[in-house]
Amino acid sequence: MLRVRVISLFPEMFAALTESGITRRASEHALVEIEVLNPREFSEDKHQSVDDRPYGGGPGMVMRVEPLKKAVEAAQSSLALPREQVLRIYLSPQGRRLDKVGVNHLGSIAETKGLILICGRYEGVDERFLATEVDEEWSIGDYVLSGGELPAMVLLDALIRKLPTALGDEQSAEQDSFENGLLDCPHYTRPEKWSPHEGGSNETLVVPEVLLSGDHKRIADWRLQQSLVRTWLRRPDLIEALKARGEFSPELNEILQAGLQKN
Ligand SMILES: C[S@@+](CC[C@H](N)C(=O)[O-])C[C@H]1O[C@@H](n2cnc3c(N)ncnc32)[C@H](O)[C@@H]1O
Repeated sequence: MLRVRVISLFPEMFAALTESGITRRASEHALVEIEVLNPREFSEDKHQSVDDRPYGGGPGMVMRVEPLKKAVEAAQSSLALPREQVLRIYLSPQGRRLDKVGVNHLGSIAETKGLILICGRYEGVDERFLATEVDEEWSIGDYVLSGGELPAMVLLDALIRKLPTALGDEQSAEQDSFENGLLDCPHYTRPEKWSPHEGGSNETLVVPEVLLSGDHKRIADWRLQQSLVRTWLRRPDLIEALKARGEFSPELNEILQAGLQKN
């Protein structure tokens, strides 16, 4: 089970994760346990303040060490695990950029350890808190959001999808983009023929014939070729990465070249 404690000034935001879709089902099936602690409840002043003005002046506010530290300690005891069995992560635009390798890495850590995810707000948190209470910093990309809640949910969703029984159909995670170093192939569903301009031109878009053939080998070959062409056109860096790892075989190159000629 993925055991997570989140430190956030906006606990209600996490309903988006626990009350919808795959992540909701994972919570209901006890694959994941998420508890959100609000640092405001650990503030000892009468206004329950969690932030203060920055030393040195300048705009914005900074989250104070004390309420955050107490919230993290409460999260630690609620996990009931020793310190070394908990990974404390601060979501930060200055952290390591999350990608598939990072998700897999954190997923394997979470198999044996609890996670505490700390969401910043305002200008960020007092540096002394990061220096003493946080193990790792992770970013979801080179842009700045108003708070760490959405990044924490992005990270959690990515981790939950990877849990063995979280997805109804085990196959669907394996076929996702990046799993084999390539982008996913295109998908189609009913109807077989569809016109984008109702009553207008008689242009009709049809499902590729191979997908209706029932021939599993041909379908798998077509999907691989589509993935290769799509990756080459949209993300040539992924093809280069496969080559650098020695995973882009002459056979794959042949399938790609044949696909490019058809396109
Ligand atoms: C407005 S941001 C503070 C940004 C900070 N002043 C900086 O430039 O590095 C407030 C909080 O949002 C979160 N945050 C913003 N962008 C993020 C990103 N790309 N990845 C992860 N967390 C992010 C962090 O927790 C941060 O403390």
